[in-house]
Amino acid sequence: MLVNASEMLKKAKAGHYAVGQFNINNLEWTKAILLTAQELNSPVILGVSEGAGKYMTGYKTVVGMVKGMLEELNITVPVALHLDHGSYEGCLKCVEAGFTSIMFDGSHYPIEENVEKTKELVKIVAEHGMSLEAEVGSIGGEEDGVVGMGECADPKECKMVADLGIDFLAAGIGNIHGKYPANWKGLSFETLDAIQKLTGDMPLVLHGGTGIPADMIKKAIDLGVSKINVNTECQLAFAAATRKYIEEGKDEQGKGFDPRKLLAPGTEAIKATVKEKMELFGSVNKA
Ligand code: 13P
Repeated sequence: MLVNASEMLKKAKAGHYAVGQFNINNLEWTKAILLTAQELNSPVILGVSEGAGKYMTGYKTVVGMVKGMLEELNITVPVALHLDHGSYEGCLKCVEAGFTSIMFDGSHYPIEENVEKTKELVKIVAEHGMSLEAEVGSIGGEEDGVVGMGECADPKECKMVADLGIDFLAAGIGNIHGKYPANWKGLSFETLDAIQKLTGDMPLVLHGGTGIPADMIKKAIDLGVSKINVNTECQLAFAAATRKYIEEGKDEQGKGFDPRKLLAPGTEAIKATVKEKMELFGSVNKA
């Protein structure tokens, strides 16, 4: 069932669990995530970065693929199709293409400009029954060409943006996209606590879910995080399983080179990663 992400995240915030956003790259990714969500009876958010959207030939292709799969795989759990780290123009394209949710990443603008652009998008998404994620305080590391330094958000700025009529808020709390470096200082729970106190019921989003230890994830959920984004971890799992298949020479046995066989271990590895995260986030049986 294709829905926006507003209701599922309100429910998650009230129920003290988080819904996973898993980024997609192609058919295998999408199928693996949707089947796992259905098997575990969990709501799910499919994340599409602008780069991945281009790779899949455009947002309309993505919408067509997701809608087709929901019907033909009989997916009945709530699924949101969400633009990840969108530019203003990218957001407009996804509104037109039929996404159900968008993230406007205005974190690199001065706060006044971030607020202005976010306000305009609040109006536009309301006309289309979509949900909107805004960002304050950039997320560290690199997400598909978008580079952030990883500063902690200013709780007062978070409150300002939360009051604009957005549906959920991504706030930097020392989180980083991609693998965490050995000298990473961990999440700033002080910042998260201050943001949550000012923003109240607003569902908060934790980007950079890959490699955050389970105890930190649980504490972040306790402090108001209701959406957790995971991308790199599925990529690493897919790559490792595919490497193993090839290194064991399985592509050279029988018809092991058939893409449906060659890509199967990687697809299963994505499923296992998504299952592990949904269990950790507490979204199982919350559809
Ligand atoms: P990771 O790649 O670190 O899991 O981050 C994903 C993310 O935050 C997408 O916006």
